[in-house]
Amino acid sequence: MVTAYDYPSAVHHDMKAIDICLVGDSASMVVHDHDTTLPITLDEMLVHCRAVARGAKTPLLVGDLPFGTYECSSNQAVDTAVRILKEGQMDAIKLEGGSPSRIVAAKAIVEAGIAVIGHVGLTPQELVDETTLDLQEAGCFAVVLECVPAPVTATATTALQIPTIGIGAGPNCSGQQISHNHDVLP
Ligand code: KIV
Repeated sequence: MVTAYDYPSAVHHDMKAIDICLVGDSASMVVHDHDTTLPITLDEMLVHCRAVARGAKTPLLVGDLPFGTYECSSNQAVDTAVRILKEGQMDAIKLEGGSPSRIVAAKAIVEAGIAVIGHVGLTPQELVDETTLDLQEAGCFAVVLECVPAPVTATATTALQIPTIGIGAGPNCSGQQISHNHDVLP
């Protein structure tokens, strides 16, 4: 899984046969020069999503739900996820955290017919006592493990039936996430 925020990177990922293209809310820092992921808006994310969708035809396209667009209620989470698919032209969404309200939100989005990747560990939006098993139970089809110690990752990868995608989480994941375009661009 590789992050892309714009059309040229998306075309490059397409040519390199990347499995999953993530339009991450890290665009907030990487593209907009904010200090954190918090300021990026849904409208800004939708622009990034559409640009990536125009360039990447082969990978599964996953759009991040930005902070402040899914925490209030399941209805809000579903509404935002629907916009990411309909207006952003993504195939699936990712949301951060493993707290009970995030599990409920993930379940509601899955029940609305939208594929969800969970994301736990060092999540830029909040630090939580994450529960990957709960995310699997909620219907997530994969989970990102960020900055999780390698032995914990190994245990989670064995325990879960869904794939783990590691970023700074050691080699024991089902897949790896590369976040910044210059990691893969020549
Ligand atoms: O926004 C992002 O790039 C991410 C990755 C760190 C998984 O969420």
